[in-house]
Amino acid sequence: MKFSHKDIISINDFSKEELLYLLQIARRMEKKASPTLLKGKVMASLFFEPSTRTRLSFATAMERLGGEVIGFSTADSSSIKKGETLWDTVKMTERYADVIIIRHPLEGSARLAAEASSKPVVNAGDGANQHPTQTLLDLYTIQKAKGTLEGLKVGILGDLKYGRVPHSLIIALSHFNCEFTFIAPDALQLPRSYLDLLNRKRLKYRITQQMMDPLSGLDILYVTRIQKERFPDPLEYERYKGVYRVDRKILPHIKKDMRIMHALPRVDEIDPSLDSTEHALYFEQAANGVPVRQALLALLLDKMK
Ligand code: CP
Repeated sequence: MKFSHKDIISINDFSKEELLYLLQIARRMEKKASPTLLKGKVMASLFFEPSTRTRLSFATAMERLGGEVIGFSTADSSSIKKGETLWDTVKMTERYADVIIIRHPLEGSARLAAEASSKPVVNAGDGANQHPTQTLLDLYTIQKAKGTLEGLKVGILGDLKYGRVPHSLIIALSHFNCEFTFIAPDALQLPRSYLDLLNRKRLKYRITQQMMDPLSGLDILYVTRIQKERFPDPLEYERYKGVYRVDRKILPHIKKDMRIMHALPRVDEIDPSLDSTEHALYFEQAANGVPVRQALLALLLDKMK
């Protein structure tokens, strides 16, 4: 396993064995994490796009392991506002920090940051491309809830075109012989390259616009937000917003142990009346960001023996 000082730009940066190993370390972190493991280490948190969960759970992970956090949460509060390039921003940050976490609206920005930095860079979301650490915590959550990642029937609903979360998740779950149902309006269906991957691996999938029909066989329903900020035309967003709403009407159609996931934030795609049901997994999912990111930071900073 090679984690030490590695850049995490895409979920493709992990083999199946590395994914499973990281989940194992995350379980150890959840049971007992040393409050001094990352003492003396500094994490730079460079967020050029809004975030609640990713930024705060990375910070919590670092601080609970005894490390320190520097950074900014908006581009406007950095010298980018004065015209500094992303390259120069990263070149400076690597002199202050041991690891750099970056979220940026442009696809490829994390890759650029990794080229600029001699310190490990973690992609915390680059445009519609990838959000690999979200996928790590999603895998952890599924494994905890279902006892396995193998052979599950997974429905992914919503914006599969612009959503970086489903993109990373599908790649990761393709290691585990899962069967997929992609539920989205035609215009927001999954880009061809992801279907090509599933075809190459001979994995089963189904594409549909209908929400209710496929629900009965699913182990996991992963709901995604329509990504307003990624639509080139605001009128196009208006056409698709609110197109799906998961509410109590689905209950007679789903298995007793089907779990509903969402990376959050949600807008209106999951009705809050589902929050108190045994199906809702999304708040636990967000909480799992802490042990999973603790595991990742400890591995990248070469602290797991
Ligand atoms: N899941 C997720 O990426 O949430 P934030 O945008 O709040 O970080």
